Amino acid sequence: MKWIYGLKELGQAKLKWKNFKMKIYITRRIPGEVTEKLKEKGYEVSFNEFDKPVTEEELVSGVRGVDAILSLLTEKIDGDLMDLAGPQLKVISNYAVGFDNINVDEATKRGIVVTNTPCDEVNEAVAEHTWALILSLARRIVEADESVRRGSYSGWDPGIFLGSSLKGKTLGIIGLGRIGSMVAKRAKGYGMNLLYNKKERDENLENELGVKYETLDDLLSKSDFVSLHVPLTEETKGMINKGTISKMKKGSYIVNTARGEVIREDDLVEALRDGHLKGAALDVFENEPQINPELIGMENVVLTPHIGSATWDARNKMSEMAFNGIIDVLEGRKPQNIVNENVWENRRK
Ligand code: DGY
Repeated sequence: MKWIYGLKELGQAKLKWKNFKMKIYITRRIPGEVTEKLKEKGYEVSFNEFDKPVTEEELVSGVRGVDAILSLLTEKIDGDLMDLAGPQLKVISNYAVGFDNINVDEATKRGIVVTNTPCDEVNEAVAEHTWALILSLARRIVEADESVRRGSYSGWDPGIFLGSSLKGKTLGIIGLGRIGSMVAKRAKGYGMNLLYNKKERDENLENELGVKYETLDDLLSKSDFVSLHVPLTEETKGMINKGTISKMKKGSYIVNTARGEVIREDDLVEALRDGHLKGAALDVFENEPQINPELIGMENVVLTPHIGSATWDARNKMSEMAFNGIIDVLEGRKPQNIVNENVWENRRK
């Protein structure tokens, strides 16, 4: 028995020795003990020690010579950066569900595996945040809170902060993937009618969730609340613009927990200013972290700093998945959450 144990120990020591030669760069501190766990496995780990996004120069110098990058959605990772990292770069593990910050085609061309962190914990967190925003808009929670803090509350008043009830209203979900579906499930409790639009109509989901398919224009013209759940792609960039906003029902609301660039912020501001839209709740912005100053000054707008997935459950699970993405690739296993599936056979080793 002892010699079997000895063999196992030897195997682990060999793996650790192999790992010892591998370098990993983490672009920013994330929840959990990812750095320590990677070091325990024998990897050489370097990281951005400041609690802020890396500058372009820091990123370039950080990635040089590494085998793996653990990136955040705040870092733009294109072909040039991959080349600057060097031919030993094997995996980019993105600490996010969205991966629009990475040029996946360029990674695939170079045999680099890209992974992300989709999981129920994130989907639930974003769906819950979407509901927090819908409710805040409908019941004017932020405005009301601000007025109480300002000392304006002078007793019950039949006319203050009248909002919009949800029962019987129509929620239009654009993008009925994992998060959009969770938003739909939760809408049932509020007695709302549900419409959806997505690239391909999905009759199974329609039956399961009780949602009705509409073209984008019809969804926009029939919905009292529109919620965006599409990834950022060439097709969805600027999808909500002057033209599409003009199709929206007068007095409706829009909620964005997807990606800021899906909405043309200037066009949104105009529609909010002229009253065509009654309100907007935004967790993401066109030029993050900059926010259109006009939005900041508007009372009918709720703004949160890209915190859709900001629950401990979600962020810890994301850390675990980002860690697994790296060690799976470096140790020769196909990761569960691979973005560019087609790279696997021709990946760099
Ligand atoms: C994601 O995972 O893409 C989110 O936007 C991060 O909160």
